[in-house]
Amino acid sequence: MKSQRLHIAIQKSGRLAEKSLDLVRAAGFRLTMSAGELAYSVENAPIDLWCVRDDDIPTFVADGVADFGIVGRNVLAERASGLNDDGLVELMPLGFGRCRLSIAAPDGFVYDGADSLSGLRIATTYPNLLRRFLEARRVEASIVTMRGAVEVAPRLKLAEAICDLVSTGATLEANGLEAFETVLESEAVLVRAPRGFAPELERTAASIVARFKGVIASQGAKYVMMNAPRTALPAIARILPGADAPTVTPLAGRDDAVAVHAVCQESIFWETLEALKATGASAILVLPIEKMM
Ligand code: PRP
Ligand code: ZN
Repeated sequence: MKSQRLHIAIQKSGRLAEKSLDLVRAAGFRLTMSAGELAYSVENAPIDLWCVRDDDIPTFVADGVADFGIVGRNVLAERASGLNDDGLVELMPLGFGRCRLSIAAPDGFVYDGADSLSGLRIATTYPNLLRRFLEARRVEASIVTMRGAVEVAPRLKLAEAICDLVSTGATLEANGLEAFETVLESEAVLVRAPRGFAPELERTAASIVARFKGVIASQGAKYVMMNAPRTALPAIARILPGADAPTVTPLAGRDDAVAVHAVCQESIFWETLEALKATGASAILVLPIEKMM
């Protein structure tokens, strides 16, 4: 019997682990650790977090062991491009854990398009994604599937190239390898089990999604206020980056000028402020946003 709580599977250790917890906390869910380091309970909502191996997360969510998962798109896509068709979908990207699944070879390898891979042995822990990449380009190469430490394969003469995750590039560099092709752009994503929950848990599920969206939207977003000549409004709308319809309010005793307030989704640079000034705007304020919904 499933309990009256929602379960979110997150990575136990690795590149996404700490930031997954940060996201849950930033969404206002207070965490207490339970079951050693394997789980957390949310004190102020019926939610538990399970800390598991990232490769297990899609299976747990698909099988109904967990209701949501925070996992790299790379892990999800590798599973989806295999034999499993369990309807798992990416609900939204989460804006952290960015990396690439790249093809790399020892420094000096001359890459001139995917045909250069023809006849090579390519070592990877992502055989399904690599196979799909090669098939789409009609390149015949052999895939050497490994469980890890793919970067040593060329030195051990197990393969001529590798297909592996690159984030800082430090691993490739330390092994004298160079990336030249991107198979997949990845970041942490939220997945939801493809089934309905009891009504009260549906409400909790909706609040998880809405709060995560709010956290992500408020990161980098700014609240901009200024006074401006009415005639400058079209120019101001063009200058403000990623702003929805700004709020325009009259200024007491001034028919020609208005106050403009807008939420901007992108960074506001000094150049942006200078451009706003040039339209006749004054008293420009840029404020950080703490929460957004
Ligand atoms: C990846 C990849 C490399 C390393 C690259 O492993 O397999 O070893 O990260 O990162 P870098 O470019 O910053 O050096 P990861 O830690 O994600 O472990 P996993 O694939 O086994 O989950
Ligand atoms: Zn892993």
